[in-house]
Amino acid sequence: MTTDPKVVWHQASVSSQQRAEKLGQRGCVVWFTGLSGSGKSTIANALDQLLIERNAHSYLLDGDNIRHGLCATPQMLNPLHGDAFAKRFGLGFSPEDREENIRRVGAVTQLLASAGLICLTAFVSPYRRDRDRVRNWVNNQDSTPFFEVFVNTPLEVCMQRDPKGLYQQALAGKIPNFTGISDPYEAPENPELELPGGSATPSELAEQVLKMLQDRGIIPARS
Ligand code: ADX
Repeated sequence: MTTDPKVVWHQASVSSQQRAEKLGQRGCVVWFTGLSGSGKSTIANALDQLLIERNAHSYLLDGDNIRHGLCATPQMLNPLHGDAFAKRFGLGFSPEDREENIRRVGAVTQLLASAGLICLTAFVSPYRRDRDRVRNWVNNQDSTPFFEVFVNTPLEVCMQRDPKGLYQQALAGKIPNFTGISDPYEAPENPELELPGGSATPSELAEQVLKMLQDRGIIPARS
């Protein structure tokens, strides 16, 4: 992002090292990406549980939940804020709206990681450019680590699961721009971790992510 001379960065007095020492962990972002129904949220929740059992400090930002507040849809904003506001700030699923969704969420992950948390996210985040921008944004603040975790579950498996009945509606042409059906999913080229979504249980997959965080020095090995 380029700078604006009217808005000047104010350096925080508490350093990330000071926070890390107090909390006993290094703040970072664990970014789950994959198709709707791939298991991102389930695996991320299982990981969140494993982390809390280890006395680690983590927090999960889940796509569906974030779209109830920070990135609410125009339909949700309309009653309270009116039509013009809802159209301007509400987010749907066009490529541009997804770009803004991921940009806002990316900025929040950077804040949470700077606060020393292990910030987990579960967003479809289908576009490579948007994910790479978040990676750069996060890395550029104190070299905060960013781990991209690709939940690679075959489309056929996601369609079979169809937990919210959305694939069925998308196939019937009732939901436009549906990822995997009428909108592309750009798989990560060099994710830090790739999980075989259809062929292991969510807790087994969460254990794999936990091991990565241990191997990368984010949390201490179990004594
Ligand atoms: S993202 O593409 O902007 O990252 P996000 O993760 O916030 O998407 O939201 C995805 C969730 O919204 C899906 O799990 C699904 O439940 C729902 N959804 C509704 N419409 C679409 C759509 N057109 N494409 C993908 N997911 C959709």
